[in-house]
Amino acid sequence: MTAPILRNLDELRAITTQWSRAGQSIGVVPTMGALHAGHLSLAEAARAGCDRVIVTIFVNPKQFNNPEDLANYPRTEFDDAAKLAPVGVDAIYVPGPDQIYPDGFATNVSVTGLTDVMEGEFRPGHFDGVSTVVAKLFLQTAADRAYFGQKDYQQLMLVTRMARDLDIPIEVVGCPTVREPSGLAMSSRNLRLSNDGLTRAARLNPIMQHVADELAKGGTFAVLGEPAKAQLVDAGFKDVEYFDLRCATSLAALDTPTRPARLLAAAWMDGVRLIDNIAVPAL
Ligand code: PAF
Repeated sequence: MTAPILRNLDELRAITTQWSRAGQSIGVVPTMGALHAGHLSLAEAARAGCDRVIVTIFVNPKQFNNPEDLANYPRTEFDDAAKLAPVGVDAIYVPGPDQIYPDGFATNVSVTGLTDVMEGEFRPGHFDGVSTVVAKLFLQTAADRAYFGQKDYQQLMLVTRMARDLDIPIEVVGCPTVREPSGLAMSSRNLRLSNDGLTRAARLNPIMQHVADELAKGGTFAVLGEPAKAQLVDAGFKDVEYFDLRCATSLAALDTPTRPARLLAAAWMDGVRLIDNIAVPAL
């Protein structure tokens, strides 16, 4: 059965208050809609871990750097609700902009440090938009747990830090990236790739995996990084914005995985910006 769609905060609070009074735990999956298998895996994880599950759908204007990107962002609410039906979520919260940013809204949540690099460098203002809306969604849903994909690894680190710093009583759960059979990380943006672009984009993951394997054998990123970027360009990627080895928690740059680490990349294929990351175990 399709879950009820709630469009305002009063309706949401009425239902979450009942659940909390009944002692039921609440899981939230924040999304911007255009749901794919990656999002559904988050909803399934929430379903397995909580008594009640809310999926939020809000295309957050504050996190877009480009007005055209915002205007073109797919809005597929009814398809999204149909995709969620088999998972059995309890509510879909689709707030209007006034429910998130009422007239006179003047607060900005900004996490420093973690946001200075990678996505933060190439998408100025993006992470303030993310942390502000996610703080609102955490507080509005009063959820006990929130589920995010590791695909947006820097975002996952950021919302974890934000909840901790602001004493929001919520556990942030990071879930594995869901991939196409080709290894390409699932993303709503993949829909904008041609068939040829999809084939070429699938090279990203094996190139990253090769670097991770060489690091595990004692290689250094100083030696491995540039050839890997050249391979991405050969595969058809344009503008490799970053290809970094970083500490898995602080996101400080590393040359060797002396601590649990992450390889992270952003690059353009066919005019579509793709990101991916993989774990690199500590030596
Ligand atoms: O990852 C996303 O879809 C968005 O950044 C999020 C977390 C829903 C905030 O708008």
